[in-house]
Amino acid sequence: MASLFSFSLFSLFLFLSLSSSSTTTTLRTNQHRPTKQKQKPRPNVPPSSASTTPPEILQACKATRFPDTCVSSLSNPNVPQNPTPLQIILSAISVSNTNLKTAQSMVKSILDSSKGNINRTTAAKNCVEALTNSQYRITRSTDDALPRGRVKDARAWMGAALLYQYDCSNALKYANDTSLTTQTMSFLDKLMTFSSNALSMIVSYDAFGNETKSWGPPKTERDGVWEFGSAPGSGGDFGSGVQRRAPV
Ligand SMILES: *[C@@H]1O[C@H](CO)[C@@H](O)[C@H](O)[C@H]1NC(C)=O
Ligand SMILES: *[C@@H]1O[C@H](CO)[C@@H](O)[C@H](O)[C@H]1NC(C)=O
Ligand SMILES: *[C@@H]1O[C@H](CO)[C@@H](O)[C@H](O)[C@H]1NC(C)=O
Repeated sequence: MASLFSFSLFSLFLFLSLSSSSTTTTLRTNQHRPTKQKQKPRPNVPPSSASTTPPEILQACKATRFPDTCVSSLSNPNVPQNPTPLQIILSAISVSNTNLKTAQSMVKSILDSSKGNINRTTAAKNCVEALTNSQYRITRSTDDALPRGRVKDARAWMGAALLYQYDCSNALKYANDTSLTTQTMSFLDKLMTFSSNALSMIVSYDAFGNETKSWGPPKTERDGVWEFGSAPGSGGDFGSGVQRRAPV
């Protein structure tokens, strides 16, 4: 269990390292053929408008691994004028949450269309469960930790939410034999980008508070995903008291 979890952490680190370069490519590719991909559910991000992007958001997005995605996902009317750092973080989490709901319905479709296929049914069921767990952690961070100023807890919950999304994607790897599964995996990649961005901002908020001028990208994997727990390979024990799989 512990070693499996360490392996997950390590894989996620690899994933995040690799996807920082591939995300840019994907987004750029999509721009040039927007109509060919009509069938694919697109990440649920309101149309961006650079002219309305508040400087506060440009600054806060410097804390993330995927600043372009961060800026475009937050350039929408739901983000208040002159947003505070906390409002920006809550908006980033809300983008992640909205896309999580889309991912949940995609996985449900995989499950519904996999009757008779034991491997894919199992993978989809595991994925459904992981995303339910992810949803719960996101809710804890927005409804419970952040309003009470418990930033370290929010960071732990959001880190766990991201890992559950990774678990879902990982489960589908063993049933990647339909185009719906492939599309869902690629959607999950986007979802994890949004979640990673929200998490990185929480990490900076924890370290520097409202001083967004000091916010910067996670410098190592420890600053990003793992700060809430231990380093890969050291047993997967959690420092902050929030257990990833704790029944709550
Ligand atoms: C299901 O998974 C098992 C074990 O991984 C594998 O041996 C088998 O070929 C898979 N079946 C199908 C139909 O893919
Ligand atoms: C899933 O399957 C598609 C089509 O065969 C392939 O292009 C893609 O690389 C696969 N993804 C993974 C993570 O195995
Ligand atoms: C940021 O500023 C708000 C409003 O002044 C304050 O309530 C909050 O505690 C500050 N956050 C941190 C982490 O210092």
